[in-house]
Amino acid sequence: RPGAEQWVPHTVDLGRLRSAAAECRGCELWRDATQTVFSSGSRKSRFMLVGEQPGDKEDLAGEPFIGPAGQLLDRALEEAGIAREEAYVTNAVKHFRFERRGMRRIHQKPAVGNIVACRPWLDAEMRSVKPDVIVCLGATAGRAVLGRPTRVTAERGHPLSAEGIDQGIVVTTHPSAVLRVRDADEREAAFAAFVDNLVVAREISA
Ligand code: URA
Ligand code: SF4
Repeated sequence: RPGAEQWVPHTVDLGRLRSAAAECRGCELWRDATQTVFSSGSRKSRFMLVGEQPGDKEDLAGEPFIGPAGQLLDRALEEAGIAREEAYVTNAVKHFRFERRGMRRIHQKPAVGNIVACRPWLDAEMRSVKPDVIVCLGATAGRAVLGRPTRVTAERGHPLSAEGIDQGIVVTTHPSAVLRVRDADEREAAFAAFVDNLVVAREISA
């Protein structure tokens, strides 16, 4: 059977999950990527933040959200009153999907097949961390966590639930979407809306 399932050990130990994920061949993405990017943060975290997939920098460094989107995320968490130590940060898909254009590697959205294949890792992470709230950063994370197509604009900031998941779930925008807003005032408004959604997550967890 395709998918990550056969690579996921029966353990809640994050170190063991991380080492096992390094060997995963649950879909084709491991072939061209540099390495598996697992997660950052501790099992004691009350918040689990789920991104899309590692970007170019994350693929090289092996850590999630270390590029510009990660910096914006850190600022937003701080403004929302969520301590970085309270945030377990991971991605829906744990290998970088890209297209080569000459020397450059251009980000490609993960396919639904990649999201489904990688879901067993997310399940293992949820069993391990047992956060109070899961925050989906963008539509791909929503697809992965809720198990259905997700419309960020329509669903953001409302507490949601999903079958088989005990935690509250909040969908919000992806930090990269905030960075892409050209106009400075509009970008600031997008950032504020992002922070507001994180505050909703914080309130659910209280
Ligand atoms: N964008 C993501 O979705 N995840 C990362 O780890 C980095 C950028
Ligand atoms: Fe395994 Fe996920 Fe990487 Fe696919 S993307 S190989 S399922 S870790």
